[in-house]
Amino acid sequence: MNDPHFWWYVTRASAVLAWVLMTAAVLWGITLSTRVFRGADNPAWLQDLHRFLGGTALVLTGIHMVSLMLDPWLAMPIDQLLIPLIAEYRPLPVALGILSFYVLLAVQLTSRMKNRLPQRFWKAVHYLSYVAVLAVAIHGAFAGTDAGAAWYQGVATVIVTASVIALIVRIVMARRRTPATSSSRLTNDGAVPSLAEANPSNPLAVTRMIITAKHPVADGVVRFRLSRVDGQPIEPWYAGAHVTLRLPIGVERQYSLCSDPADRGHLDIAVLRQEPVGRGSAYLHDIAELGDELDVIGPRNHFPLEAAHEYLFIAGGIGITPIRAMIEALPPTRAWRLLYLGRTRSEMAFSRELESRYGERVRVVAGDERTERLDLAGEIAAATADVYACGSGALLDDVIAATPRARCHVERFIAVDRTTGANRAPLVVVARTTGRRIEVEAEESVLSALQAAGIPMATSCGTGVCGTCETRVLAGTALHLDSVMPDDDKDEIGVFYPCVSRATTPELVLDV
Ligand code: FES
Repeated sequence: MNDPHFWWYVTRASAVLAWVLMTAAVLWGITLSTRVFRGADNPAWLQDLHRFLGGTALVLTGIHMVSLMLDPWLAMPIDQLLIPLIAEYRPLPVALGILSFYVLLAVQLTSRMKNRLPQRFWKAVHYLSYVAVLAVAIHGAFAGTDAGAAWYQGVATVIVTASVIALIVRIVMARRRTPATSSSRLTNDGAVPSLAEANPSNPLAVTRMIITAKHPVADGVVRFRLSRVDGQPIEPWYAGAHVTLRLPIGVERQYSLCSDPADRGHLDIAVLRQEPVGRGSAYLHDIAELGDELDVIGPRNHFPLEAAHEYLFIAGGIGITPIRAMIEALPPTRAWRLLYLGRTRSEMAFSRELESRYGERVRVVAGDERTERLDLAGEIAAATADVYACGSGALLDDVIAATPRARCHVERFIAVDRTTGANRAPLVVVARTTGRRIEVEAEESVLSALQAAGIPMATSCGTGVCGTCETRVLAGTALHLDSVMPDDDKDEIGVFYPCVSRATTPELVLDV
């Protein structure tokens, strides 16, 4: 510190390191986005590394700016470091450096708020980092004191060449990517699918589909294969997704997809017969035939498979359907186990198939075969894996009770009654598009008040379990009474389900 040149060294070292790390972050991001890891094991640390490189580059850029102020020779005033084009020293190259800092900052902030932001906005900000890398190169060449040094020119040549090549590869790969090769496996762009990504661009689009296969897979369970009537590939979807079938008898039913998400030729669902003759699932079992056409809404996903080092899947009965898609989507080398519980072996769809394909990874606990009692809490406590569970309400309650929140992921088929005793005070909702204020009485749902006011709202189950009516909350605090996903996840991405949910504030501003 006594060396009068100390801050000058810091300035130069932090600048070069920030530039190298920023370039590495961009190159790594491009590598992930070209999906060279598709089909290979792709643990979460690959994405973490991308974030770490970008975050460290930002910190080093901050150190660079502070050291520019502290260096006794340069002693740059803070306003000249923060406001482009007012620097006395080489204003244009310095401005490029300042703007690159703001881009880095914006990329980091929007990455942390990714689930709250429109995907296009987030991506647009992210793409600015390509420009920032080149802007930093110009900044260093014209504002840096080392630009004439051979070592600096060598580093700059390598970085700029690599950046340009990577950018060209990125553009070429993007153009060559056809819908059929867009991976729907665990990771997209090497990343955990966020809820926004887990749902395709228009998850409420209605697609006309035809039943191309129908056969029983267990007692009371029939597997249907659905293909698009127009023969086009299915929209990309992620494991854990479901579709809504609009049946000719005037009802809609939701079914989890159980096929491999990478197979874009068709969707498979397995339907448990649960209803009386002529209703919902019974209609599909008894009346729907090969060649019948149906309107299919989705796929839509509130149960996305996130990147983890290890998985413990727990399925109860027909809850095996989304779990099967998850198993199909995982790279072969990923560590996972399945506990599959059912009343009788004959009612457990896919149990033999899963056992024969995956051997000891699969433990089937059938009520009519069981010799020892399954210690579910003990199994979960002994694991460090992320737990994904789907099945009856009682099973899921047990799983939730035994699993740390951060590792627990469940999907319910039947809504939990959260409305009894909940605050049903009247409230006002404000529609963003028109500014109109709509009063919601204590006894009516927010959804029906919006519909009565002439605002078109998608709806299906009406009980807060399917997620069809998902609406973005722009201001106010939602009182979540649905069973779609954990409340903090909804708060994190800023949505609520107006068919059942209300508000803890007298007013909600909704993106409708
Ligand atoms: S309509 Fe199903 S959650 Fe609202």
